[in-house]
Amino acid sequence: MEVVKTGIPGLDNLFAIGGFPKGNTILVIGGPGSGKSIFGMQYIYTGVTRYDEPGIFITFDETPDKIRRNMRSFGWDIEKYEKEQKLILMDAVTYRISDDVDEEILRTGLDVDNLIANLDDAINAIDAKRVVIDSLAVMGLYAQDEFEKRTKILRLSKLLSLRNVTSLVITEGQSADIGIKEFPMETFMFDGVLILRLDSETQKRRISIRKMRGTKHVIGSFKFTIGSNGIELSP
Ligand SMILES: Nc1ncnc2c1ncn2[C@@H]1O[C@H](COP(=O)(O)OP(=O)(O)O)[C@@H](O)[C@H]1O
Ligand SMILES: [Mg+2]
Repeated sequence: MEVVKTGIPGLDNLFAIGGFPKGNTILVIGGPGSGKSIFGMQYIYTGVTRYDEPGIFITFDETPDKIRRNMRSFGWDIEKYEKEQKLILMDAVTYRISDDVDEEILRTGLDVDNLIANLDDAINAIDAKRVVIDSLAVMGLYAQDEFEKRTKILRLSKLLSLRNVTSLVITEGQSADIGIKEFPMETFMFDGVLILRLDSETQKRRISIRKMRGTKHVIGSFKFTIGSNGIELSP
């Protein structure tokens, strides 16, 4: 089993093989502010800078510019690696579509065929090994109903596993410390499930692994912090 390092200090040790099994598509669930986007970008950024694994970050909610700015606060220079064609930050809503197109998109719904074709091109263009989609919750807003939403997710995850990239698919729980009832039905479509929690009383952050095909993993939840270098599990 090939291993993909998570880039999150302390996280690899929770998996018997020392990281994510290569090729897995992993759902990351957490409430607002739980650290999902930072987690996703850290996975992509360290992949590029430390493991020479090109990566693609697809954003549905924040603009690429805002993400570049936010990540600079951790000292991560996204643009440098975009220029070197090792990292692609893709705006899922406007990608390869003209600027004043918002109204058009809202009327017709986001074209997932288009997104899948663009993602496939991007994977080939930089020989990507890692992909992050942020987030499914927002992507779902562009679907007409639950059935269409699930069909879209299935097709996206098919492409990801076909290309043998190791991906994180982010989705949002309703509250910061999400409960079991909030688990989206889509979990069965994924090889792994990670949960990020922010305790509303103590303001402490925790991560747990709910499922990971291809490796044994530690059960339980682990404290983590978001500091000047990004996310780090507490010793
Ligand atoms: N430079 C930083 N240093 C420390 N914590 C930060 C920094 N930037 C953001 N955060 C924390 O991360 C949270 C947002 O993380 P984010 O990944 O955007 O959450 P999510 O995507 O789950 O909504 C903020 O609410 C803040 O608590
Ligand atoms: Mg986010």
